[in-house]
Amino acid sequence: MKVGCVKEIKNNEFRVGMTPNNVKSYKNAGHEVYIEKGAGVGSGFTDKEYEDAGAIMIDSAKEVWDTVEMMIKVKEPLPEEYPLFHEGLILYTYLHLAADKPQTDALLNGKVKGVAYETLIERDGSIPLLAPMSQIAGRLSIQEGAKYLEKRFGGEGVLLAGVPGTPKANIVILGGGSVGTNACKIAVGMGANVTILDINLKRLAYLDDIFGARIQTLASNDSNIEHAVKEADLVIGSVLIPGKSAPKLFKKAYLKEMKPGAVFVDVAVDQGGCGETTKVTYHDDPIFIEDGIVHYCVGNMPGAVPRTSTIALTNATLSYGLQIAGKGLEQACKDNEVIFSAINTYDGKLTCKNVADSYDCYEYADIHTLV
Ligand SMILES: NC(=O)c1ccc[n+]([C@@H]2O[C@H](COP(=O)([O-])OP(=O)(O)OC[C@H]3O[C@@H](n4cnc5c(N)ncnc54)[C@H](O)[C@@H]3O)[C@@H](O)[C@H]2O)c1
Repeated sequence: MKVGCVKEIKNNEFRVGMTPNNVKSYKNAGHEVYIEKGAGVGSGFTDKEYEDAGAIMIDSAKEVWDTVEMMIKVKEPLPEEYPLFHEGLILYTYLHLAADKPQTDALLNGKVKGVAYETLIERDGSIPLLAPMSQIAGRLSIQEGAKYLEKRFGGEGVLLAGVPGTPKANIVILGGGSVGTNACKIAVGMGANVTILDINLKRLAYLDDIFGARIQTLASNDSNIEHAVKEADLVIGSVLIPGKSAPKLFKKAYLKEMKPGAVFVDVAVDQGGCGETTKVTYHDDPIFIEDGIVHYCVGNMPGAVPRTSTIALTNATLSYGLQIAGKGLEQACKDNEVIFSAINTYDGKLTCKNVADSYDCYEYADIHTLV
């Protein structure tokens, strides 16, 4: 198969869908690999490294889009990329369609086979292509939160760990999955007081086993959330209902009850955000202040550490990518049922139930009946 990869064009996005090592793996499996010149520079990979690995380097993104049968990306395509779609193209990337109707329409109209990293669910319920980015975003959320608690950014002026004789910061984490657990790990490591809330009591039991007395676990409900965030210096939004818009757990009314200058990092912003006051921000202007609370709502947080992120992401995407390229999408699904769960659009039909449920205007089609 002809597979390829273009430079990401989202604001301050420096990750890339394929590393030179990936190119070698696809080449060894018998595929042709087309890479846009400069695609890997932001992640520290030179054109020469791709060339040495066997890639055909191409001057323009359009030419790569036109040539490949399978495009391997990181972020969802942006509107300027929609006209580059062609019928039957396999687009293997993050899509996040539940919060992006224009893109959903473009994929359906273009009859693109949209294979979304974030909805590929393994047999044990894990989300292996979201997990590495969630690990990074979770760890980064505390780093960013610590920075924006500094006074010069409008923050409270509080050091997370405190020093002897001063209070430690209170960190509240909404959602104890991959993001939440990784945020928790760094927050505990920095010596803050950590409270983590989840609706999944089994997950809370697991977190209690792992972190022991160093954290407080709480069942997630409106009163526990309201009570916890009132005392918080830093709130991390990390809930997920796969494929659906995030529930708005962090209400506007809470802001006035919180400490002025407290920080809210809404990692779940890529699914619409779990705060009523969440608005998407970008790395070049990542925060805004509403009712005295600093909001950080960057939808592609791992883009801030592209070298680590690219290697972590492609470590996870390679094996499914090789299955799809090697057998074609249809046969790859038949041989490995798990891949069905990643197909969001197919031949002009919306095939992810949770995405379809997020809108009134689309009919859901079962992918098993189409392939
Ligand atoms: N902004 C970014 O750069 C970035 C990067 C990675 C992931 N994310 C996003 O972060 C979010 C979390 O991802 P994840 O990998 O941790 O997901 P996950 O599935 O591992 O964890 C989500 C957790 O939320 C919990 N949850 C669901 N509803 C809840 C509620 N009402 N109250 C409390 N908890 C609830 C679930 O039980 C689960 O434990 C997703 O929206 C993901 O897309 C964003």
